[in-house]
Parts: sequence; structure tokens; C-alpha cells
Amino acid sequence: MGQRCSIFFIHKQIMTDNFAAKAADWDNNNPRMIMIQKFISEIESRGTINNETHLLDFGCGTGLVGLHFVDKVAELTLVDNSPAMIEVLRQKIAENGYTNTQVVEGTIEDSLKSESETLIVASMSVHHVDDIPHLINHFHKRLVKNGKVIISDLYKEDGSFHFPDVVPQNGFDMDILQSQFQAADFTVEHISNYHTMNREISTGEKRSFPLFVLVARKN
Ligand SMILES: C[S@@+](CC[C@H](N)C(=O)[O-])C[C@H]1O[C@@H](n2cnc3c(N)ncnc32)[C@H](O)[C@@H]1O
Repeated sequence: MGQRCSIFFIHKQIMTDNFAAKAADWDNNNPRMIMIQKFISEIESRGTINNETHLLDFGCGTGLVGLHFVDKVAELTLVDNSPAMIEVLRQKIAENGYTNTQVVEGTIEDSLKSESETLIVASMSVHHVDDIPHLINHFHKRLVKNGKVIISDLYKEDGSFHFPDVVPQNGFDMDILQSQFQAADFTVEHISNYHTMNREISTGEKRSFPLFVLVARKN
């Protein structure tokens, strides 16, 4: 309990919060919770979590992934640019008295330290980012040598997953994503289809959206 707890408010520019209407109920969604649990199992199976781990959860939302590990790691940094999601996250941290957390309201450039993390995780957040090579370069800056990134996201799809909303990436082509990591001095250690999200799309049709987990190590 004597460890550091700090909250940074950095991202002050006026921006639309796409998650404002969703944040309060974010955790009350069974398919999401099943997906999160499976992603957590994937992270645990990689043996990257222990009491020396410095963990960064990118696009953490309400902290479903990062906070699961809060008692198992040395330090947890939670980064998200949605004020509404961060508000829910802060309430959870306050209610539980977590003291080894840093909350960054902003994006990856706003998280302050370099070469400090041993593990970065990102659950369904990378498809919200425009410039993927830029993001991967910032992951590289934040990680220690041999530090890892573990991403859960959508395989390439036709935009139905979010429609009528529009996001920067309609999922990912694995060859392209892998080569983007390699170009940024990572070794991609693992890619697999770990889960499928079933959801009704805007036409009323039921669709299955496969999700991948990708593990990359900083060289
Ligand atoms: C689909 S939600 C996933 C939230 C959480 N990781 C989960 O699985 O429950 C995507 C999250 O990424 C955040 N996000 C999107 N773009 C971001 C960026 N450039 N920097 C930081 N967070 C971002 C959003 O605010 C949102 O909370």
C-alpha cells in the first residue's frame, strides 16, 4: 500500500469522446467479458506476468484487462484517451484502493516514461488508431529490451463490426501487421485466432468476427 499512485491528465485538446455513451455500461456485457477472460488467459499463458512486471494497458477503457493483473505486477500504467472511460476506471481504482497504478488520460505519446515497461497489452484498442507504424514505434520506445506487446484485435473485416460507426482500421491483415512490427525492430513470436465474437450487424444479420492474439518481442 506504500507504493506510488498518480493520475495524469495530459490530453487537453478538444476532442469527441466516442465512448462517452458506452463507458458506464461497458462492463455489463457478457460477450465482452467472455472475450476479456480469454485474452487474460492468453496473456497468462505467455508467462509474462510476475511481481517484476511493469505493465502498460494501451486503450485500457475501464481497465478490464490491466486491473485484472494489478495485484500481480510491480506497476500498472493505464492509458486511454476517453475521459468517460477514464472516469469509470478512476472510480474502480479509488474504490479498491489500488496504489501501484498510473492513469494517463491521453494516448501513447502522452505516457511519460521511456524504456520502462516489460509488457504492453492492448485489447480491441489498436483498430481505433490511425497511424499503426507510429503506434508501434511508441510501443518500442516504452519497452525495455526483450519487452513484449500482446494485442487482441479483429482480423480484417468489411467495417460491419462497427457500422454505422467508422473506425480507422477495419481489422488487420496479419502479413501487413507482422511486417509493421518487424520494421519497428520487433520479432513477432506468435499469432493465432483465439476467439470469435458473434454479433448482430446493422442489417440484422448475425456475423462471426474472429479475433487474433499477436505477441511481439522488442529486439
Ligand atoms: C473497444 S475499447 C476497448 C477497451 C478495453 N481495452 C477493453 O477491452 O475493454 C477501445 C478503447 O481504446 C481507447 N482508444 C482509442 N484510441 C486511442 C488512442 N489513440 N489512445 C488511447 N486510447 C485510445 C478508447 O477510448 C477505448 O476506451
